[in-house]
Amino acid sequence: MKIEKITPRIGATITGIDVTRPLSTGEIEAISDALNANGVIFFPGQPKLSGEEQRAFGGQFGTIEAPPKLTKESELRDVLILDFTRPVGSGTDIWHNDASYLACPPMGSILQAHILPECGGDTCFASMHAAYEALPADMKAMIDHKTASHSTGRVLELTRSLGNPVYDDEETLAPRSHPIVTLDPRTGRRRLFVNPNYTDSIDGMSKAESDRQLAFLYDHIKSPEFQMRYRWSVGDIAFWDNHAVQHYAVADYTTRRRMQRVTLAGYAPVGIGATDVEMVPA
Ligand code: OGA
Ligand code: MN
Repeated sequence: MKIEKITPRIGATITGIDVTRPLSTGEIEAISDALNANGVIFFPGQPKLSGEEQRAFGGQFGTIEAPPKLTKESELRDVLILDFTRPVGSGTDIWHNDASYLACPPMGSILQAHILPECGGDTCFASMHAAYEALPADMKAMIDHKTASHSTGRVLELTRSLGNPVYDDEETLAPRSHPIVTLDPRTGRRRLFVNPNYTDSIDGMSKAESDRQLAFLYDHIKSPEFQMRYRWSVGDIAFWDNHAVQHYAVADYTTRRRMQRVTLAGYAPVGIGATDVEMVPA
């Protein structure tokens, strides 16, 4: 197995493994370490996996969980199919952590490319460790012990108007507060945990002030210094740490693109000095 970094701050490619066979304990550990160190890892040129095979691969790193929303192309409850020809604001083309509005946002997602446009349809990833670390000191002090409210409202409206995705329990979900700065459970490293798709407002702040601060943070996370952009080939698999990176599916294509995803169950984000923030029961 070979691990090669894509940029200093985010992304690594892993070759020399076959995702269709069970991994050894050593391989699982090395892959988990690479994910932790790089935020997102890629397994290029793997055979196209069935939903069951992808579930078996992902299940070696955690518990597979059904996402709160499914598209009509998805046949299995816990295998999400993203199949678009002309993506227009379906929510994946906005920076986001998957389902950050849940009490326990997913630990990670594993996405494989099955059908791709001739070019375009790349995915961008941004390190929220790097983004946090580069913030000005006064901004860090302002957000370090605050929480923000997340909900699915905006995306629900967007996708409903497109008539594509099908939801079951998503519309009944209440907004959730999470710390704005969360800690990596393995290393304690700080990372920024607000995203323009699902974060509505900073708690305990006027709407106008919250909008202003979030606009600053959303502009900040767009810096190319924290990012990488992945150009897919059919069979490639991406595995991201959903609490440590945000992603953005570039909506620039006009021919079919079909992706298959499994999601790993997550955990409640923990802020700096957990007693200083209002922790939300799971
Ligand atoms: C996702 C997602 C990005 C893409 O699966 O959660 O946002 O490039 N996909 O399809
Ligand atoms: Mn996503």
